[in-house]
Amino acid sequence: MHVLARARQIQRNLSADGLRATLYKSYYYGLGYVFDAFHERIDTTSPATQETLTENGTPRGDRTAAFPCHPGVLRRALDALAVSANDVFLDIGCGKGRALVVARRYPFQRIIGVDLIPSHIRVCRRNLERLGSRNHQLILGDALKIDYPSDVTVCFLFKPFPEPVILACLARLLPRPRAVILMGSDALKHLPGYRLQETYRHGPSDRFDYLLFTREPGVES
Ligand SMILES: C[S@@+](CC[C@H](N)C(=O)[O-])C[C@H]1O[C@@H](n2cnc3c(N)ncnc32)[C@H](O)[C@@H]1O
Repeated sequence: MHVLARARQIQRNLSADGLRATLYKSYYYGLGYVFDAFHERIDTTSPATQETLTENGTPRGDRTAAFPCHPGVLRRALDALAVSANDVFLDIGCGKGRALVVARRYPFQRIIGVDLIPSHIRVCRRNLERLGSRNHQLILGDALKIDYPSDVTVCFLFKPFPEPVILACLARLLPRPRAVILMGSDALKHLPGYRLQETYRHGPSDRFDYLLFTREPGVES
């Protein structure tokens, strides 16, 4: 981003969010660029297209803007799950793939990303290929309409859309994954068939908080 445009952005952030949140946002972007640099200079951080919020120019209330997850916070949730080679990871609303890049460090049999924006899927694919990934599957489509693979065991959602849409989306995943990680959606304290195993709060904003749900014993689908 041009220096002047960046300065204007910071000024807008300061008046909208205050100093603390603005400093955190700057730290967060810095962290993202360091993350990318350490991963063969991929791009999970540069501002994403705002296409996400509209369809043919019309605002869509059931979608939220693209924004990459906090890698350390996702790692914390995955560490709690004892991931094995029987597990398959799904990121609903994968954006440019930051979460998939984190997940590929774990022994998942497969990592899957879904996004409805072609440019996100394109960049995500490029990122994963640059890292030499061989076990990824990317699906371009609307999370509320696609058919999901039936072997997903760990599902991650970082606020791709508001809570009622998240629930509708999860209901389409059959059989149910053994774990669901919801980041930045802490209004959803109950998921049918799951128990809330862990909650985690991070930093001054609630953006990267997560809720970790695990399937109730005996509930298969
Ligand atoms: C907040 S970003 C999350 C990015 C990524 N999961 C991560 O953690 O780095 C949300 C993503 O959800 C996608 N999205 C929004 N609505 C969607 C839908 N109905 N179907 C598929 N993807 C959707 C957006 O395009 C955007 O890339």
